Amino acid sequence: MDYLQIKGVDSINGTIKISGAKNASLPLIAMTILAKNSVHIKNLPAVADIKTLLKLLSNLGATCDFHDDKVIVNTSTLNQTKATYDIVKTMRASILVLGPILTRFGHCEVSLPGGCAIGQRPIDLHLKALEQMGAEITIQAGYVEAKAPNGLKGCEIIFDKITVTGTANIVMAAALAHGKTTIINAAREPEVVQLCEVLNNSGINIDGTGTAVLTIEGRAGKLMDINEFSVIPDRIEAGTYLCAGAITKSEITLTNVNTHHLGAVIAKLEEMGSSFSSTQDTITIHPSKIIKPVRVITQEYPAFPTDMQAQFMALATQAEGTSIIEERLFENRFMHVSELQRMGADISLNGNVATVNGRNKLSGADVMATDLRASSALVLAALVADGITNIHRIYHLDRGYDSLEKKLKNVGTDIQRLNE
Ligand code: UD1
Repeated sequence: MDYLQIKGVDSINGTIKISGAKNASLPLIAMTILAKNSVHIKNLPAVADIKTLLKLLSNLGATCDFHDDKVIVNTSTLNQTKATYDIVKTMRASILVLGPILTRFGHCEVSLPGGCAIGQRPIDLHLKALEQMGAEITIQAGYVEAKAPNGLKGCEIIFDKITVTGTANIVMAAALAHGKTTIINAAREPEVVQLCEVLNNSGINIDGTGTAVLTIEGRAGKLMDINEFSVIPDRIEAGTYLCAGAITKSEITLTNVNTHHLGAVIAKLEEMGSSFSSTQDTITIHPSKIIKPVRVITQEYPAFPTDMQAQFMALATQAEGTSIIEERLFENRFMHVSELQRMGADISLNGNVATVNGRNKLSGADVMATDLRASSALVLAALVADGITNIHRIYHLDRGYDSLEKKLKNVGTDIQRLNE
């Protein structure tokens, strides 16, 4: 199994090109199930989750031609409707095929994703919404079995909670449903916005894109022609590298970014003392010599993202004072705390609130990656730790960070991928 060995550095500097967003690419790839043409997607990140979803589509009979950062997906040959356990267990987001397969074929089986390191992560809201659209859903032998032999019917859906993949699933289901679907309390994340925009540009009428109320006019089963498009930049990857600049007190420039998607992250980094200059698709962090403590509350977009919580905790260990970090989305998303403590961090937990006493000198240690973003927090901590940190189980990192060690090496980090 691979692990990362990182030696603490005094500073880093240079430019990092941000890849396409993993969390935008996943629903956009699932969306190709709604197309009758071969769909060309550009700016895909080379990460394990993308390969997993393309493998799932290939297993179902689609052809996927993935080179560099481009893929051509042809789902006209898709002839299976069952997403099996062996794939779903490696990636929860496989649930994104449920809406599109059901709406196109009238039936679909998906292995239940189950819990994961950051919490229970139920899919009840996806299922309830599909039932409201007329699907008959049963759970049997670990599989969700959904049937709608006469197609799904548009209706009004009120999500009890804001759900990102839930909103994406229902938007895709609604695209081929009969009649109009209105989603109330929809997610407003940029990744959901791009899905709506691509569908809209390909002939589906969607009102309210980027707001909490989406109205989708269904095409009553008629497949679509989806035009070529390019995936938006990864705001979480960008936020992580901005934190790398802040924690090492180094000027770093990111290219291929959309700063509008980074509003809450930039605001918190400014509170901690950094300043920024930007152009249309670049941003440079000018970090301060003193990192100020911060209060962070994770919430849905446009508030501070839960996917940046772990990285800010690493940064808070180097602040001059006490930071408070409150996790409101996932009940168990503090797995990185014990690993950061192994490196000398002073963090105490009370329910979903972490108190981080800063300015603790961290020291290199053997630590274990527990989930995707927790892993990147360990990378950030390792950059400023005394000595060598070995981060094990980096398959978590490989799920979502494209060429992490290459990008960090280019800005002067002493980082190597080794085999146990
Ligand atoms: C997506 C992102 C993930 C991010 C999360 C929150 C992808 C592939 N993943 O995950 O990186 O951390 O949004 O921004 O885009 N919930 C229910 N029932 C449901 C669905 C969700 O109770 O049926 C709850 C969840 O447990 C959680 C909250 O709603 O507490 C938000 O979850 P959700 O937005 O669905 O997260 P994902 O879409 O799985």
